[in-house]
Amino acid sequence: MTDLIVTVKNNNPYPILLRDDFSDLGRAVSLLPDMQGRKICIVSDSKVSELYMDIVIQSFSEYFDTVKQFVFPEGEENKTLDTVQNLYQYLIQCGFERGDVLAALGGGVTGDLTGFTAATYLRGIRFIQIPTSLLAQVDSSIGGKTGVDFRGYKNMVGAFHQPVLVYSCSEALLSLYPRDYRSGLGEILKHGLIRDKDYYQWLKDNVSVLWAPDRYSEFSRKMLTEMVYRSDRIKQAVVENDPEEKGERAILNFGHTIGHAVEKFAFHSLSHGMCVSIGMRAAAWISMQRGMISQADYDDICHTLHDMYQLPTSASFLPEQMNVSAEDILRITKSDKKMEKGQVKMILLDRIGHAVICHDVSDQEILAAIEEILA
Ligand code: GLY
Repeated sequence: MTDLIVTVKNNNPYPILLRDDFSDLGRAVSLLPDMQGRKICIVSDSKVSELYMDIVIQSFSEYFDTVKQFVFPEGEENKTLDTVQNLYQYLIQCGFERGDVLAALGGGVTGDLTGFTAATYLRGIRFIQIPTSLLAQVDSSIGGKTGVDFRGYKNMVGAFHQPVLVYSCSEALLSLYPRDYRSGLGEILKHGLIRDKDYYQWLKDNVSVLWAPDRYSEFSRKMLTEMVYRSDRIKQAVVENDPEEKGERAILNFGHTIGHAVEKFAFHSLSHGMCVSIGMRAAAWISMQRGMISQADYDDICHTLHDMYQLPTSASFLPEQMNVSAEDILRITKSDKKMEKGQVKMILLDRIGHAVICHDVSDQEILAAIEEILA
């Protein structure tokens, strides 16, 4: 499988390398321009660092004299400016200069937080993404969205700052807990739905391997790498066309508008990917109500998400367990940063494999879709 190169305007192109394990990491990073004599700081959370910090340090130590590590407590609740400040302090203590490099080892929280620190420390230093979750490998590590949550508002403070390299390996995916792995499958199905009908069909045809890849099977590993590659290609094309989300990049938010609101109320009882799955059903439902997709397509999407990939498509527990109404979810949906000129920017489908951005979805339509997922 060839490496991908992401070419974003006003930035140096950067590679996405897909490998079996971490063994090529140090060499790949050493081949980047101006790496001689540079320091590297690996940033990771308490959970991922236990699994991979030693092996990643080993890989870097062959090529770099100074390899530092910064570990913060695992969890979205630590994706904050406080953690970023602790990291600034550590970098200052270790004498990190503008030419030195950060390496984000972990999932989306680590990548976003490290990227934001890299974007702002000394007005910007380089960083490498080493995503270990499926979600991070196919989505958050590519395209330079960085940031932290602020007082309960997700990703409210951030910057666009592209990495200089993305290094993904199937070894990391094969050691994920099934729940974490499957959560990433929601974003993968999203890629097929918004951009590539053939890929969506391929995901359906190969569900038995992709839903539960066998870490001892060469075939599983090959299929997993192909899946990440095909999703990365979609993400690459979208961010190259519209790096700063002035238009088309918003299609990546399919399922996120209502999904984020569900996520907020679910208080981490559902993962991000699971909430996106619920949100995708809601967006597909509005698409069907508007006559943009057929009932058969809508049923197929629900069947693929729920029956084939066993992702949730209902949030019916919210009214019962959390005392949350459809109006509450609408209110939070409208406070999300995906608003434009006071109007919700909703991503709908006009066919399977093609998403469109709609600015005219009414509160009534959103409310009806929310009622559908709460029923
Ligand atoms: N995760 C959505 C984006 O990168 O635009």
